[in-house]
Amino acid sequence: MFRRALTPLSLAAVGLLALSACRPGAVRRPAPVTAANVALGDSLFNTGNCQRCHGKGGIGAQNAPALDGKKWLQLTTGSYEEIVKIITEGVPQTAIKDASHRFAMRGRGGNMNLTDPQVQAVAAYVWTLSHK
Ligand code: HEC
Repeated sequence: MFRRALTPLSLAAVGLLALSACRPGAVRRPAPVTAANVALGDSLFNTGNCQRCHGKGGIGAQNAPALDGKKWLQLTTGSYEEIVKIITEGVPQTAIKDASHRFAMRGRGGNMNLTDPQVQAVAAYVWTLSHK
């Protein structure tokens, strides 16, 4: 009985999800941006080195820009792939765009020495900051 009652409902839910995913102009959520990755990335970002320069929640601070996507200094589109790349490689001193940011960003969070899955998790969290 339950199954009968639930089936049309679940079909409707799936339909709605599909519709919202296809909404024109909607940015597709990259596959690695899962709830688990975002939670892990949040914790790595906000307890690790990232927040020391970018501020808690990536709101920006003296030594590094906000990551809300209003204006990118290094990234062009702010895609998930671009975010993974910059976290992996960092930003050397000579590539810094705004001279008020005095310290190079080291790859993989510097001494956090993030593994590939950790980089992906931090990138998932950072992606959400500009896709609210
Ligand atoms: C030592 C300070 C420092 C630390 C630590 C640091 N960053 Fe950065 N980050 C920078 C600087 C400097 C830039 C480039 C800003 C510029 O060009 O003026 C940057 C740029 C970025 C950008 C591109 C922003 C844009 O406007 O294009 C992202 C994304 C980013 N950092 C994420 C992270 C993450 C995630 C971590 C932790 C794993 C981290 N950063 C750790 C200093 C830091």
